[in-house]
Amino acid sequence: MSESLDLAALPADFTWGTATSAYQIEGAVTEDGRAPSIWDTFSHTPGKVAGDDHGDVACDHYHRWPEDIGLMKRLGADAYRMSVAWPRVMPAGDGPVNAAGLDFYDRLVDALLDAGITPNITLYHWDLPQALQDRGGWTVRDTAEHLADYASAVAGRLGDRVTRWATLNEPLCSGWIGHLEGRMAPGLTDLTAAVHASYHLLLAHGLATRAIRAAAPEARVGLVTNHSTVEAASSRPEDIAAAVRMDGHTNRWWLDPVYGRGFPADMRELYGVELPERSGDLDAIAAPLDWHGLNYYFPATVTDDPRGPVPYAREVRLPDVPRTGMDWQIDAGGLESLLLRLTDDYGVRELYVTENGSAFPDTVSPDGAVHDPARARYLEQHVSACVRAVRKGAPLAGYYAWSLLDNFEWAYGYDKRFGLVHVDYATQARTVKTSGLRYAEIIRAHRESHA
Ligand code: FCB
Repeated sequence: MSESLDLAALPADFTWGTATSAYQIEGAVTEDGRAPSIWDTFSHTPGKVAGDDHGDVACDHYHRWPEDIGLMKRLGADAYRMSVAWPRVMPAGDGPVNAAGLDFYDRLVDALLDAGITPNITLYHWDLPQALQDRGGWTVRDTAEHLADYASAVAGRLGDRVTRWATLNEPLCSGWIGHLEGRMAPGLTDLTAAVHASYHLLLAHGLATRAIRAAAPEARVGLVTNHSTVEAASSRPEDIAAAVRMDGHTNRWWLDPVYGRGFPADMRELYGVELPERSGDLDAIAAPLDWHGLNYYFPATVTDDPRGPVPYAREVRLPDVPRTGMDWQIDAGGLESLLLRLTDDYGVRELYVTENGSAFPDTVSPDGAVHDPARARYLEQHVSACVRAVRKGAPLAGYYAWSLLDNFEWAYGYDKRFGLVHVDYATQARTVKTSGLRYAEIIRAHRESHA
């Protein structure tokens, strides 16, 4: 049964979009002067990615983008969140711009605009040029400055047509998963490296914000962060303290400095790593933003784990709760509360859900359709959470479903399918799933509610 949604409660000009990222869909990793990124290196290191999958071909979007824009039109989406691949535009990470790399995005942006679809460009969705990793990557300050130079090159070229910009996607994943847990590129497990990377990522965000605005005066610049609500597994004081630490690690560490509060003192003490601070950095990091993008997938419930890894809080797996094919708990209430926290606690004035979605093991049926009621239900529940948050005052201006297409799901490879559109990787055939059709209905119904 599909949920009835009070879509009229969403603003008339609410943005409906889909989201992707460069490395996950483009393929064409050696074409037109692109150099390797840390994800090329990581995915080609045996054992790092499920099935040893890699993004060499992915969805072949680099060649099939006209068809993919056609799919967005079929869904009726009016916006598209995409990322630009740094190693296409500045293959060495710094220095000369590769014109052919920028030309690709130039054509794509023009075609999107012709189709009536507004691009929302993320500059860094995890594909650091390998050449910069070889010089220390995010553990060194120079990388933050290089991101700003690259941002300036892209905004300088596209900023006459693109106004929605995000600096980074999910710095938490680059910082913690890439440098502390080692499950993502560059695959380090070093607390000092991770804390320094987190600092330089946020600094890069601040410097790039400035650079984009200088290169493209019409730009509306935001940051995309991912968060989870954090609950204690019990009312034991140890578990409650663990939940505070996990909240610091997952949420406050990334939001407090951006909203002018500096890095949280309790977490600084817990990490025990000196920050590579210089005067002026905190002001750059806290540059006022035009919007904030929230990526939300799942909540966390934690218990004290004094001998475990930082932050000494371990996630517990709740029994008997609904889950996606990622084994992630489904809890749309978490989306509502995070939207309200960004509004009430951090004072965000323009909010987007920049990613939200679910993976399930889909197959194409003999009738040629992909029946994915669980994904449609997930979508409805989360759109409904958006409606509730708006009713409670969240300045939510749009929702981008993750993802337009099934794609390269990082360390999970191609096994996990998040698309509203199914991709047959052997033939590159695209099939709109029934959840995609449901999304189209939701978009249409919202428009009609304001007609
Ligand atoms: C987010 C990433 C995105 C995608 C989804 C499932 O963490 O930003 O690229 O992998 O998860």
